[in-house]
Amino acid sequence: MGKDVIIACDFASKQDVMNFLDLFSEEKPFVKIGMELFYAEGPAIVREIKARGHKIFLDLKLHDIPNTVKKAMKVLSGLDVDMTNLHAAGATAMMQGALEGLTRADGTRPILIAVTQLTSTDQETMERDLLIREPIDQVVMHYAKTAKNAGLDGVVCSPLEAGKVHDACGKNFVTVTPGVRFADGDVGDQKRVMTPAEANRIGSDYIVVGRPITAAADPVAAYRRCVAEFVG
Ligand code: C5P
Repeated sequence: MGKDVIIACDFASKQDVMNFLDLFSEEKPFVKIGMELFYAEGPAIVREIKARGHKIFLDLKLHDIPNTVKKAMKVLSGLDVDMTNLHAAGATAMMQGALEGLTRADGTRPILIAVTQLTSTDQETMERDLLIREPIDQVVMHYAKTAKNAGLDGVVCSPLEAGKVHDACGKNFVTVTPGVRFADGDVGDQKRVMTPAEANRIGSDYIVVGRPITAAADPVAAYRRCVAEFVG
């Protein structure tokens, strides 16, 4: 699995994302499209960005009964995205259904990764609201193993967890890690961060980077710096 930098395109409209992508005349970065942009602009935004030559991680975090997720994934696969995701909390049958739905007639399919516990969920929330009483790091690792056993390709996790995920699930199990900041940059609302170089050392396969690139004075230079630090 090739290491890459994925730019989180957390923009509210098509115009904003296209203005941003227009800045890139040489590279075609891998981009992440999330719920806000997808729900605002619909599947056409995926087709348009794809037609411009970008790889796409469609971050919609599906979670429903297996049959519904299978059918929804079939639609996303038809959009020709390169990576998509779901909540491991949907359990094994849902994850297997998702894989089935994603697999195209020629046997190819987008990379499918799982969200374990959201980083907005802490131990207290998990115990109080979800009635899960085990330590959260064990819960995260258990969900990662369940995703692997269901046949998924990897998980979204903090770069701080990437090494442990690889130890538990093998080095080919993909880790996609947000929470990346330049050593001299603003941390913003991220609590646990790593630089691109540290994320590389600890074994992240893909880093998801938003504001350090999208809000930079020179986004193309920031992207190149990120790639240089992460991929070398
Ligand atoms: O701007 P920033 O680099 O913080 O963007 C990180 C991206 O990764 C955002 O799209 C955010 O929603 C996403 N993300 C995250 N932490 C998670 C899961 C996803 O920051 N645990």
